[in-house]
Amino acid sequence: MWETLFKMDKIEDNALKDITVKGVPLLVSRIDGKIYVTDLYCTHEQTSLSEGFIEGCSVVCSAHFASFNLKDGKVISGPEGETGTIKDLKSYNTKIENGMIMADI
Ligand code: FES
Repeated sequence: MWETLFKMDKIEDNALKDITVKGVPLLVSRIDGKIYVTDLYCTHEQTSLSEGFIEGCSVVCSAHFASFNLKDGKVISGPEGETGTIKDLKSYNTKIENGMIMADI
């Protein structure tokens, strides 16, 4: 179901923002003008990825440095560089309508 998140101009380019919509904690990223939405919490030990940092089109968790592709939520590398130990993030379809970011939650 499509839900309205916030105005596009409320997030700068190459930035991360968290929001909870309908009880679902989400990570919204804006990378080179495009919006992506995934689950907010790292699948390792539930650290908020809004505290992480952006590397290209990925987010790196601030706790143990797992990284996830912001486009599709897939694990790029696990905690401390391990592989195959954590799950992907759920990724949500997005669209912009009248300057508002919407996600299919
Ligand atoms: S909580 Fe994110 S890598 Fe450990």
